[in-house]
Order: sequence, then structure tokens, then C-alpha cells
Amino acid sequence: MEQRSQWGTRIGFLLAAIGSAVGLGNIWRFPATAFENGGGAFFVPYLFALLTAGIPLLIMEYTIGHKYRSSSPRSFSKISKGMEWIGWWQVLISFVISTYYPIIIAWSIMYAYFSLGTKWGDDPTTFFVSDFLSVVDAGEFGSFVPSVLIPVIFVWIFVFFFLGRGVKKGIEFANRIFIPTLLVVFIIIVIRALTLPGAVDGLDAFFKPDWSRITDGSVWIAAYGQIFFSLSIAFAIMITYSSYLPKKSDITNNAFITGFANSSFELLAGIGVFAVLGFMAFQTSQPVAEVVKSGVGLAFMVFPEIISQMPASSFFGFLFFGSLVLAGLSSMISISETYIAAVQEKFSISRRKALLLGGGLAFLASLLYSTQGGLNLLDTVDYFINNYGVALAGLFEVVAIAWFAKGLKDLQNHADSVSDIKLGVWWRFSLGVITPVVLGYMMLQNLKTDLS
Ligand code: PHE
Ligand code: NA
Repeated sequence: MEQRSQWGTRIGFLLAAIGSAVGLGNIWRFPATAFENGGGAFFVPYLFALLTAGIPLLIMEYTIGHKYRSSSPRSFSKISKGMEWIGWWQVLISFVISTYYPIIIAWSIMYAYFSLGTKWGDDPTTFFVSDFLSVVDAGEFGSFVPSVLIPVIFVWIFVFFFLGRGVKKGIEFANRIFIPTLLVVFIIIVIRALTLPGAVDGLDAFFKPDWSRITDGSVWIAAYGQIFFSLSIAFAIMITYSSYLPKKSDITNNAFITGFANSSFELLAGIGVFAVLGFMAFQTSQPVAEVVKSGVGLAFMVFPEIISQMPASSFFGFLFFGSLVLAGLSSMISISETYIAAVQEKFSISRRKALLLGGGLAFLASLLYSTQGGLNLLDTVDYFINNYGVALAGLFEVVAIAWFAKGLKDLQNHADSVSDIKLGVWWRFSLGVITPVVLGYMMLQNLKTDLS
């Protein structure tokens, strides 16, 4: 049998895992989520979720990958024959995400380019919707939009190139360049943002705690939701990545480093985004709350408008959108690797063949979103993936392991045998009780909202 690929260095693995975790979720999801859920007070449920779900699950996934040294489906089947489908469910979710993630990276590439002459003009909203996406009539599918299609193809060339080169020369190499660069760019952006007039008001709005929200169940759900999404858990990614670790690797320590690094990026992004929003509020004499938006609206409508009003706008805009591209590509590599690894193992074919098959299919599917009206499709698919797909994947995973398989004790022994920090009741209780209860409750809440 072919020897399993391995990371070249520990830091290489960590950078790849952090590269997967740090993505659009840190930059455009976290700041607005925190703001809407109690501001400074949100940090309490957030830290709680990190320590009772995020890091425990990360340790569990790292342990599974490290112990069974296989892709997610095969790892689960090694735990128990009947559990292989849990791995496939996770892989399927990653596959679906990998069909629309390139679109958002493509927008960022185009906006990095548009920044060079602030080409969106005076009205970024209209520019984004009609000029750029050429959405004429919402809901109607039409022909390809070249300004989206071309960068999407570029993203896929990139993915094929690096995944084709394998774990060490491809994934590790790309992340070794991207993640340090991303950190430097981030710091430049944050310093610039903090020196803008109005920045302090933005931070004030962001950090001001609304303690009355802390008893609100939906705030806690939002905190757990942010942690799951942000740490790329239950997507088969962390299992796949840790399956390439050498035998001697401190799993528990690695999980803590990944978790805290991701949260630090999140905090940094929150500070940068709100400093910039404070500047916008200052320019337009509005309260900060009026200018806050999340998601696509924040990155591609609000930010372009603010960037236009800033000194050295082209440079700053290029850095901002460039950082979205770097964060997006490193996450994209990790999502695609899950099904390449799974297909390669399942059918005993070469990495290249698996890439051609899996990546080829995902590429074709991604063309659907590169059309007029593709944005609606993207929104719908994203909604179901995030509200049901991922929550279910996490729920299946913890319940299967903690309640049905050989149990957490088995994994704990494995993690403890290679790690400095020893796991205890905290870890087993978080996974056996807290995480399943929260995920179950989350699913029911989503169902309730959707059915009413
Ligand atoms: N964790 C990434 C983020 O915070 C998002 C992501 C989800 C990446 C799923 C890969 C897979 O943005
Ligand atoms: Na993240």
C-alpha cells in the first residue's frame, strides 16, 4: 500500500488548520453576529461555546484523524462499520460548499481589481447587483456572467494546482505563504482603521455590553453557531487534515492553538470592521448601528462605499479584498481535500484521479452560480447547508461517538497518550451532553422558525 502523505512540519499542519478555520466567517460573520447579540456581553457565551464545544470537538476530530489515519468516511467505518455514512454526510456537505465558495472568492478577486480605480463609483449597491452580477430580474436564470465566470475558473485552476501537488508540497506550501501574509495584511488594515476619525465610536458600539441579552437563548445559539462554523468542525476537514499528522503529535495542544488562533483573528477582524464602520458613521453623521450590515452586504456594498471615502482608497481596498481572497482560498483548499481524500481511499485510485473526478464535478456545479440570478440559488443552498446540514453533521458525529461507539474513553486514551494536557470530565461532558443538547435545540429552533 502507498505510504500515507504527511505534513512536513508541525507548524505546517497548524497553518493549514488555521487556514481552513480563518475565512469569511471571521471577517464578515463574526463582527455583525457579536454586535447583534449583546456586543461586549456576547463574549461570555462565545467563550463558553469555544470551551464547551469548539475546542472539545476539535480535539475529538483531531484524535479520530490521528488515530485512524484515514479520510472521514473510512475513519468512521473503522470506529464502527455502520458509521461510515456519517463521514460521507460530512463529505457531501463539504462538496456542496465547495461548489459555491469559489463564487465568493471570485467576487473578492474582482473587487480587489475594482479597488484599483474604485470602479464601483458613487453607488456600490447598484453596481454590485446590476452592473457586476447583472441581476436583471431576481429569480430568473440567464446566461453566464463573464466577470464572475472568469475568476471562478481561476479559483479552480488554483485549487487543482495545489491539491494536485499533494499534502506537503501543495496544501502545506500554500498555507505557509498565505496565512502569515494574511496576518500581516490584517494588522496593516486594523492599524489603518484605528487611525480613522470615528474609529473609537465604532469600537465603542462593538464592545459596549448589553448584559440584558445574556439570558436570551437565541444569543447562546448564535454563539455556538458561530463557533461551529468558524472552526470548520463537522465538515470532515479537521479529520482529514489530522490524518496526515505524524505519529508523534500533541493533539490536544494543537487543538487549543487552532481554536485560539481562529478566535484571535475573529477579534482582530471585529476591531477592524467596527473601526471602519465608525468612520462611516462619522462621515455620514449617523449612529453606528445604522451602518452595520453582515454578509455579502457588508463586504460588497458597505465596504466599497467606505473605501471610496478613505484616503489611499485603492491601496486599502486592494488589501481588504486581497485578504478575503487569501482567507477564502485557504478554506477552499481544505473543503475540497475532504472529498479528494475520501474518493481516493474508497475507490483505491490515485490522488490525481480523485481530484479530477471530485473537483471536476464540483467545478461543473459551480458554473450554475456563475449565471444571472445565480445569487438566489447560492443563498438558498447556503441557508440549508448552514441551518440544517452542518448542525446535523455535528449532531450525528457526537451522538455516534459519545453514545454508541466504543465511546469517548477510547479516544481520550489515544489523545492522552500523545498530548501534554490530559483530558478529563470537562471533555467528556462537553461532548456527551452539552454539544448534543445545544445542537439538537438549534435544529428544533431552526425548524420552528422555518415552519412558522
Ligand atoms: N471556517 C470558515 C470561516 O470561518 C468557513 C468554512 C466553513 C471553511 C466550512 C471551510 C469549511 O469562514
Ligand atoms: Na473561522
